[in-house]
Amino acid sequence: MKRIFHYLKPYTFLAIISPLLMMGEVIADLCLPRLMTVIVDCGIAANGDVSSSKLGSTVMNILYGAGPYTSMQVIVTFGVLMLVIVLIGGFFGVSCAYTAARASQSLGNDLRRDAYSRVMSLSIEQTDKFTTGSLVTRMTNDITMVVDFTEMFLRMLVRAPMFFVGGLFMLLTMNVSFGIVMLCALPVMAIMLFCVLGRAIPLYSTVQKKLDRVNSVVQENVTGARVVKAYVSEEHEGKRFDEANADLMDTNFKVQKLMAVMHPVLTVVMNAAIIAIIYIGGWQLDNAFGTGMTTGSIMAAITYVTQILMSIMMVTMVLQSVSRAMASSKRIGEVLDSAPVIVSGDVKESKDDIAVSLKNVGFRYPETHGRPVLHDINLDIKRGETLAIIGATGSGKTSLVNLIPRFYDAVEGEVFVDGVPVKEYDLEALRHKISFVLQKSELFSGTVSDNIRMGKDDATEEEIQMAARTAQAEHFISGFSDGFESYIAEKGASLSGGQKQRMSIARAVVRKPEILILDDSTSALDLATEAKLRASLESEMKDTTVIMIAQRIASVKNADRIAVIEDGTIRDCAPHDILMETSATYRDIYNSQMGNGGQANE
Ligand code: GTP
Ligand code: MG
Repeated sequence: MKRIFHYLKPYTFLAIISPLLMMGEVIADLCLPRLMTVIVDCGIAANGDVSSSKLGSTVMNILYGAGPYTSMQVIVTFGVLMLVIVLIGGFFGVSCAYTAARASQSLGNDLRRDAYSRVMSLSIEQTDKFTTGSLVTRMTNDITMVVDFTEMFLRMLVRAPMFFVGGLFMLLTMNVSFGIVMLCALPVMAIMLFCVLGRAIPLYSTVQKKLDRVNSVVQENVTGARVVKAYVSEEHEGKRFDEANADLMDTNFKVQKLMAVMHPVLTVVMNAAIIAIIYIGGWQLDNAFGTGMTTGSIMAAITYVTQILMSIMMVTMVLQSVSRAMASSKRIGEVLDSAPVIVSGDVKESKDDIAVSLKNVGFRYPETHGRPVLHDINLDIKRGETLAIIGATGSGKTSLVNLIPRFYDAVEGEVFVDGVPVKEYDLEALRHKISFVLQKSELFSGTVSDNIRMGKDDATEEEIQMAARTAQAEHFISGFSDGFESYIAEKGASLSGGQKQRMSIARAVVRKPEILILDDSTSALDLATEAKLRASLESEMKDTTVIMIAQRIASVKNADRIAVIEDGTIRDCAPHDILMETSATYRDIYNSQMGNGGQANE
C-alpha cells in the first residue's frame, strides 16, 4: 500500500485537488433536500408563506424584500436555486472525476513502466520462477486493480464520510427524533459489513492466483498452438484450461455469493428506515406536537437517510477495492522488489589475446540438486579462433555457452572474456561484444529488416544486405514479394526452420561481434547450404572468435579446435585430425555418423 502512495507522489496536486472538488459536489448534494423542503412546505403547503422556514424567509427577503410572496414566486425561486446548485455540483463532480482519473492513470502508467523495466532486468532464472503467465497478470490485471482503487479512493475519500457525517448532521438538525431510525439501522449495517468483508477479503488474493493459472495455460497453448494441433491434444489441453477456468470461476463465485447478500440487506434496511421516517414524521404531524415536523422535512429526511446508507455502501466498495488492491500491490511489489540476480559490473572495455577463458568452471541450475550440469571446465579460446563444441544431447553444451554472456553465473570457477571476469563487466558492454544465436530461433513480428536490425540499431541497408548474404539468407529473402520489407509473423511463424536459423545468424553477424556463439544454429540447414555458410562466415568474419555448437561431424570438422563434451565436462579438445587419433568419444561420434568409413554425410 505504501508503494501506491509513493507512486502517487508526483501527482500530489491532482491527488489533493480531487477530494477537494468532491467536497463541492457533496455539499451541493446535501443542500438540495433542504431547498426542496422550502418548496414543499412554503411554496406548496403554505401558499408562499415562508415564515415557518428560516432558510426560506432569509433567501426571499434578500431577493425580493419583505413579503408577502406568491406560492409561484417561492417555487420558481427555489427551483432555480436547486438547478444552479445541481449545475455547480455537477461541475465539481466532473472535475473530480477528471483529476482522479488523471492521477490514477498516470500512477498506473508509471507502475507499469517500472514493473516492465524490472521484468526485463530479471535473469532468466527469475523469470522462470515467476512464470510468464504470472508476470503478465501482474503487469496487467494487478496494476489495473491498483489503478481502479486509486481512482475510487480519491473520489470516495471525502464523499463517503461527508455524506455520512453531513447527512447525519442535516437529519438531526431537522428533527432529532429521526436519529432513532439511524440508531437502529447503523448496527445492522455494521454487523453485515463485518461478516461479509471479513470472509471476502482473504479470497481476493486467491482469485489473482487462479487468474495466473488461467493466463499460464492460455499462454502455453496459444504459443504452442502448432504442437497442440499436431498431437491432436486439443481435448486434453481444453480440459486443463477448463479446470483452471472452473477453479477461477468457483473462487470468484464464492466472493460474489458473499457480496450478493449486501445489496438486498442494504435495500431492506433502507426501505425500513424510510418507512420508519414516514411513520415517525406522520405521527408527529398528526399529533401536532409542536416539534416543527412538516411534509417537506419528511421528504428531506428520506433523502438524507438514503444518502447516509449509500455512503455506507460506498465504504463497502472502497473496502472491497482496498482488499483487492492490497493483494495486487503485494504481487506487483514482489516483482519490483526482486533484485536482479545478475548484477552488472563496471568494466566497459578490455582486449586480450585470449577472447574467452573458463577456469575450473562448475555450474548447476538454480534450485536444482544432484549432479552439477557442468564441472571442471578449463578452456582458453584465442582471439579469432573457431572453436566447435560437440557432444551428446543433454551433455551441457548450451549450459556452457550460456555462461559467457552471463545468462547464468558459474557456481564454481570463473569465466573471463578478454581477460576480465564476466562478473566485472558492464552487462551491456559484455553482451555487445557477443552475438548469440540461440538454439531455438526467436524472431519478432515485423519486417525482415527490422529483425536483422535488432542486432545493430543503426545498421544501413547495405549492412543488412551484407549480413543476409553472409548468413546465406539473401536468396530466400529476395524471393519474398517485398524482399527485405516483407512482414514476418510473430515468432517467425511464416518462415521455415532453416530460414529462421539463417535470419537469426544474419541478425547476429550484422553487428560484427567480437565473439559469435552459434548454438546448434545450422542444424536445420542442408549440408551444402551449411558448407556455404561456414565458408562465408570464415571469409567475412576473420577477426571474430567463433564458438559453434553442432551435432554433426561435418559441421565441426574444419574448426580450429573441437571440444568434446561428455557428462558435463570437456573430455578432449583438439583439431579434428588429432581427435580422430586420441579421442575415443570423438571417434565414436564420427563412426556413428559416417557409417563404416563411408562419406555419406560429408
Ligand atoms: P542439446 O541442446 O540437446 O544438444 O543439449 P545440451 O548439451 O545443449 O544440454 P543443455 O546444456 O541444454 O542441458 C544440460 C542439462 O541441464 C540437461 O540435463 C538439462 O536437463 C539441464 N537444463 C537445461 N536447461 C535447464 C534449465 O533452464 N533449468 C534447469 N533446471 N535445468 C536445465
Ligand atoms: Mg543445447
